[in-house]
Amino acid sequence: VSAAEITDPADPRVADYLCLTDVDLRTKFEPPRGLFIAEGELVIRRAVRAGYRLRSVLLGPEWLRSLPALGLPPETPTYVAGAEVMQALTGFRVHRGALASVHRRPLPTAEALLAGAQRVAVLEDVNTHTNAGAIFRCAAALGMDAVLLSPSCADPLYRRAVRVSMGEVFAVPYARFEAWPADLDRLRSAGFRLLALTPDPAATSLDDVRVAPTDRVALLLGAEGPGLSPAARGRAGQEVRIPMSGGVDSLNVAAAAAVAFYVIGGRPASRR
Ligand SMILES: C[S@@+](CC[C@H](N)C(=O)[O-])C[C@H]1O[C@@H](n2cnc3c(N)ncnc32)[C@H](O)[C@@H]1O
Repeated sequence: VSAAEITDPADPRVADYLCLTDVDLRTKFEPPRGLFIAEGELVIRRAVRAGYRLRSVLLGPEWLRSLPALGLPPETPTYVAGAEVMQALTGFRVHRGALASVHRRPLPTAEALLAGAQRVAVLEDVNTHTNAGAIFRCAAALGMDAVLLSPSCADPLYRRAVRVSMGEVFAVPYARFEAWPADLDRLRSAGFRLLALTPDPAATSLDDVRVAPTDRVALLLGAEGPGLSPAARGRAGQEVRIPMSGGVDSLNVAAAAAVAFYVIGGRPASRR
């Protein structure tokens, strides 16, 4: 792999990396163009290992000497830019800069995803990228087979989500529901027990929920402000709370996901 130097932030070869801090612009720009941005060496490597194809990489000059160590596929268009050009282009100071523009892959349908799944997380309108990323990391670590997103959930392949997940968004398959909340009925018809996670004191304590290893279970999680909608809660077979103390009214959704995945997620022998 050899690298071409970029000296002008307006160079069309690096247009994929323009204004990376502008969330509105990027969320309108990336999905229709079929790309996402991976940030940092580890995340780029994970994307490649997961079979994603790179459109290009943009590196700081410090990478020039260790380029072979990045293990990029040989055909990858590779660009190098100094810190100032990088900042003018992306909008932020890219520390030990390593960015990749990556081709998205078509998402599986929810039906295809559910066919082989036993423990799934369902996110309703979780629209904070950091929470979405953290939930994927927990799902990968704690034995969830798949994540299903309501139509307006945050994009798990947005740069911050990918980074917070440490690349685990590549490890956990996900799909997006199209008919919300009606798709929850299809989930139930497919044999899943729907457990709605809520801090509501009237809900059953997670300590008292019994799940057999062969049960198919979907854990429903809601957004930071409003929590799960009444429509989603109404479709769940059971409402479940993680008991809290100290008068705290709720947990952050990713923290709640971690606790619930630990208790309900499939546990390989290595994690017992
Ligand atoms: C910050 S909370 C939302 C708080 C919202 N006021 C409510 O009553 O649901 C975000 C999500 O995290 C999950 N959650 C937070 N604390 C929880 C708890 N103690 N038990 C179960 N789920 C919890 C729920 O899925 C919730 O929708």
